[in-house]
Amino acid sequence: MKRSIVVTGGAGFIGSHVVRLLVNKYPEYRIINLDKLTYAGNLANLKDIEDKPNYRFVKADICDFETVCALLQEEKVDGIIHLAAESHVDRSIKDPFTFARTNVMGTLSLLQAAKLYWEPQGWKVGDVPCRFYHISTDEVYGALQMTDPEGIEPPFTTKASSGKHHLAYGSEFFTEGTKYQPHSPYSAAKASSDHFVRAFHDTYGMPTVVTNCSNNYGPYQFPEKLIPLFINNIRHRKPLPVYGKGENVRDWLYVEDHARAIDLIFHEGKVADTYNIGGFNEWKNIDIIRVLINTVDRLLGRPEGADMDLITYVTDRAGHDLRYAIDSSKLQRELGWEPSLQFEEGIEKTVRWYLDNQAWMDNVTSGDYQKYYEEMYKGR
Ligand code: NAD
Ligand code: DAU
Repeated sequence: MKRSIVVTGGAGFIGSHVVRLLVNKYPEYRIINLDKLTYAGNLANLKDIEDKPNYRFVKADICDFETVCALLQEEKVDGIIHLAAESHVDRSIKDPFTFARTNVMGTLSLLQAAKLYWEPQGWKVGDVPCRFYHISTDEVYGALQMTDPEGIEPPFTTKASSGKHHLAYGSEFFTEGTKYQPHSPYSAAKASSDHFVRAFHDTYGMPTVVTNCSNNYGPYQFPEKLIPLFINNIRHRKPLPVYGKGENVRDWLYVEDHARAIDLIFHEGKVADTYNIGGFNEWKNIDIIRVLINTVDRLLGRPEGADMDLITYVTDRAGHDLRYAIDSSKLQRELGWEPSLQFEEGIEKTVRWYLDNQAWMDNVTSGDYQKYYEEMYKGR
């Protein structure tokens, strides 16, 4: 089947991996990357596929309703994979309006444009059933406690609903049924956009699907996020600003595994359904930071651990969620998805990529980046 798919935010971190996967895997599809190119969007992330005949880049804002409407008609779009968003929690604390505009109003603009184009055709373009796939986050569920009913010190072994055992920092997980309880302006805006997507299914019958994923890591992530920021700082022997005590827990997934899940769910996920995506891979920030220091040191030929003294405890993030942990057993059980990489392998690959691509890092950290960095960490 031929398809015409708009990927929003395709020049960002996860979006670029999704675009690359779709362009290479489906030469018969037309893949249109719609991106505003904010500070987080970078066409250098897609250099290797930019000349492929089935790929087109369109520089546009998802809030620009007329432009989106015209593009859907012009390209006879039957699928939208929506990743465009403001994505960084610390920025949302400083500037919540931008997050409401892009994440809420931008999503609504896309939904309404898709409805206007698809509904009169019976939610089909030619013979192809339409689909609006919204990429969300585990942060909408709020935060989990680090508790164990038997009083064992975490991390302890626990059994997910898949039946598999793994290490965890608490006995509860985010499932698809967990109630929404966002704490940051970022997660509040993402939660709101999720509600709009579901409302468009329930009210108009739009064929939607929503996924909520845990923290991603890997190549092409903007160095305001923990892993690329710290790799770059260790390389240049700059302080590593650890929020609070470094005890917060995140559940990490290699970005290409997320992209594979998105491909699978776009094609095979049930209409109106929700899938949680995560690798059962919980880490305390401070433990990841130690792994990063050891790995960077080793790969740069420094004595392993030589840079531990860069660790600098700073004032905590306001409203800092304690623990995220995704239960992805539904996706594993129903669609047969599994993460392909062990965390140790993924981190080694990631650190190597950033060290080998210093030109990419220098490019994205030139311009306004230094100003942002100083402003963000001032007084912490
Ligand atoms: P990112 O910040 O790296 O990229 C966002 C992209 O969206 C950029 O290319 C940017 O230019 C584009 N964009 C921003 N505003 C836009 C607008 N108004 N119009 C058009 N394009 C715009 O983000 P990411 O980390 O790749 O996250 C992508 C999506 O996945 C987001 O929706 C995010 O909420 C979600 N998500 C991210 C993670 C994670 O760990 N990074 C985990 C779960 C879910
Ligand atoms: O859980 C999914 C979410 O993961 C996504 O929805 C977000 O878009 C993405 O940014 C990410 O959010 P986090 O806030 O968890 O990611 P971040 O890399 O900003 O921070 C990870 C942890 O590290 C968090 O507990 C805060 C801490 N941290 C972060 C930075 C940038 C520090 O201690 N110091 C830092 O300088």
